[in-house]
Amino acid sequence: MYAFDIASDRPKTELYDELLKAADALTAGEPDGIANMANISALLWQFLPDLNWSGFYRMVEGELVLGPFQGKAACIRIPLNKGVCGAAARTATSQLVDDVHAFPGHIACDADSRSELVVPILRDGAVVAVIDLDSPIPSRFDNADKSGIEALAELLASRI
Ligand code: SME
Repeated sequence: MYAFDIASDRPKTELYDELLKAADALTAGEPDGIANMANISALLWQFLPDLNWSGFYRMVEGELVLGPFQGKAACIRIPLNKGVCGAAARTATSQLVDDVHAFPGHIACDADSRSELVVPILRDGAVVAVIDLDSPIPSRFDNADKSGIEALAELLASRI
């Protein structure tokens, strides 16, 4: 059993410190990337309040393909010229979207989503996957979330 002590009312920097420690402990020494992405999507869901989706899309033959996640069933394949995930993978930069309805080409996998954070995972300079977080609350994510998830992406680069 894995039990984590999560107080989501603490400052975000502390929350992400704890999340990173938990992610490190869960994935250290485990070579199976699918198992690691599955556990991390559960960890994100457990640690971060006000989410309606947390998970991964993997780069497979030039497009993004759905990976392990928590939340409602989602779009399976995303071309790099579509959506917030496609933009993150195409540009290899994080996308912090306060209002998904204002983002050209946003893909509404869950009609409840209002804001979104997508962070690319790079290995040897190439995007191998993205971490996608959705929230039903507008402007749910800020730069502290972006930095925290970017640190997580760096940790996971060699573990997925
Ligand atoms: N909204 C994303 C698609 C993935 S779902 O949110 C799970 C996008 O626009 O790329």
